[in-house]
Amino acid sequence: MFNIIITENYDQVASEAFRNMKEAVTKENPVLGLATGSSPIGLYKKMIADRNASGTSYKKAVTYNLDEYIGLPRDHDQSYWTFMHENLFDGLNIPEANIHIPCGDCEDPEEECRRYEEELRQHVIDLQVLGIGSDGHIGFNEPGTPFDSVTHVAELTEQTRRDNARFFGDDIEKVPTHAITMGLASILKARSIIVLATGSNKADAVYGMIRGPKSTDCPASVLQGHSHVTVILDKDAAARL
Ligand code: F6R
Repeated sequence: MFNIIITENYDQVASEAFRNMKEAVTKENPVLGLATGSSPIGLYKKMIADRNASGTSYKKAVTYNLDEYIGLPRDHDQSYWTFMHENLFDGLNIPEANIHIPCGDCEDPEEECRRYEEELRQHVIDLQVLGIGSDGHIGFNEPGTPFDSVTHVAELTEQTRRDNARFFGDDIEKVPTHAITMGLASILKARSIIVLATGSNKADAVYGMIRGPKSTDCPASVLQGHSHVTVILDKDAAARL
């Protein structure tokens, strides 16, 4: 069962997401699961604004990011490490040791997946933030990914690389072909999940997640089996519901 919130626009999606986040971070030692991409940027801006205005402390927060591109050094301007520091972490006071992002340029990505999954086992994520790809992916779990998958190396689909080319000067050749991603089973372990989606290019994926059959053709449909998922949409992303 999904709790579905349909709003007018991106800013309202961010506000609704922030209400969920604020509740999570008022808990002692919150564990947050975080995403990159366009969808959560508004939420992250509100978290920073709130910290500046009200002094909300993140000293005891622990974070786990969903994924990282393979092959980009962490100081690359399009690595998710850079994205998270520029869009969120530099504006909060989370101790660097509490921040977890898979290492995309380590020597042995398979070993890195095992290490990351092992770290994840040591915490339960209180609130997992998700975006959704236009092909229904969550994290980089592309169509066909088994529902019982844990952290693994994923090959990006042509569609995802096309969608993400906007961050690489519109040059698909520059978009990495592989990433390390938390698996669908790893994501499902979170206590609660929010999915943020805006824009008409997400309407089919949102429909598949909520109303479609629970099938690996739409990885996000795995969320049908979770008891605490809030989907926060603008009108365009909700158009098919
Ligand atoms: C990012 C991630 C992806 C994105 C998805 C939507 O860490 O895991 O699943 O959430 O590709 O991306 P945006 O929000 O840019 O449309």
